[in-house]
Amino acid sequence: MGDWLKDAISATVDKVSAQARRGGDFPHITEHGKWVFTSDGVWTGGFWVGLLWLGYELRKTDELREAATRLTERLLPRAADKVNHDLGFMFYPSAVKGWRITGNKRYLHAAVEAAHSLASQFNPAGGFIPGWGFFGSEDWSGSVLIDTLMNLPLLVWATNNGADAQLLDVVHRHARTALANHQRPDGSVYHVFRFDPANGNPISGDTYQGLAAASAWSRGQGWALAGFSMLADMTGSPDYLAAAQRVAGYVRNHLPEDGVPPWDYAAERGAVKDSSAGAITAYGLIRLWELTGDAEHLVLATRMLEALYRTCMGDSDIAPVLVHATADLPHGLGIDESTIYGDYYFLKALVALQEVESRQYGTTLSRVEQA
Ligand code: GLY
Repeated sequence: MGDWLKDAISATVDKVSAQARRGGDFPHITEHGKWVFTSDGVWTGGFWVGLLWLGYELRKTDELREAATRLTERLLPRAADKVNHDLGFMFYPSAVKGWRITGNKRYLHAAVEAAHSLASQFNPAGGFIPGWGFFGSEDWSGSVLIDTLMNLPLLVWATNNGADAQLLDVVHRHARTALANHQRPDGSVYHVFRFDPANGNPISGDTYQGLAAASAWSRGQGWALAGFSMLADMTGSPDYLAAAQRVAGYVRNHLPEDGVPPWDYAAERGAVKDSSAGAITAYGLIRLWELTGDAEHLVLATRMLEALYRTCMGDSDIAPVLVHATADLPHGLGIDESTIYGDYYFLKALVALQEVESRQYGTTLSRVEQA
């Protein structure tokens, strides 16, 4: 295993442990380098809990287990939230992971309930789960975010763990809608696609956090790549696999020499970076390599992760983990800061790479774990 990989995992778990010792609510994004915390976990609480469980698996310390348990418990009531397309992000890294580690049935039941709450938002006329309902005074109930793909693995998992089998139909209908509308001929994806919520008719591609409707918001490319890869793995669909490969081709052709995505692939040279896009994309590439055995995916993922380690790690003894992330540039939020989702997928990808390397050296036969 590369020394940098061992060092990166160790430094990341040090930072997560240091933050766990400080206690408190759910870290979300930073402002001026300091975490902004949320009391209910908004859409990102699952990532922090996921980091705590991942850290616990690696270190087995009481402080990490206690913090993971305390915050998993605090997320459980959110399972009933029926106006939230991010319940997969909220419940897979936290409750599903916590259930696997502890066997606590309350976590299992909450994750299954969250899956039903997510599926209840499905619009059958359009074949999609909308990104938002009302946002300010505007109706966004016909707006479908590429990010939502990442939430569908919760539904697939739930159908294997006591949920209604209909949830699988929601997965395929939403994913096929994204395939038909979000993905463009060059393999990149729209951040948002708008539909008429009443009859489901497609209207046009759009963006919320990207540079322009037709540009390629870099984190959105990462969500699409990782989302389609996981769904291909979980459902066996060759269409999702092909979609993930097309996104990977786009990223390969547009990633700058330094290996860290700009906040939008169409942004001008020297624009701020989004390290979170790098982490999510690298994780998706490892998942894609698992499915295809195509070495170029693993080589690119390794290059991206090493670039994040060498150029985007924050100061050694201070959380957060990655700097140079951009949450939402058009709305002036978290520009060149840190995000809890970037940190989560960084550790997730590092651990996945470590598992792959161990397997290649013959020390384990385990598969890389789902999100
Ligand atoms: N899912 C929202 C974001 O990536 O900012």
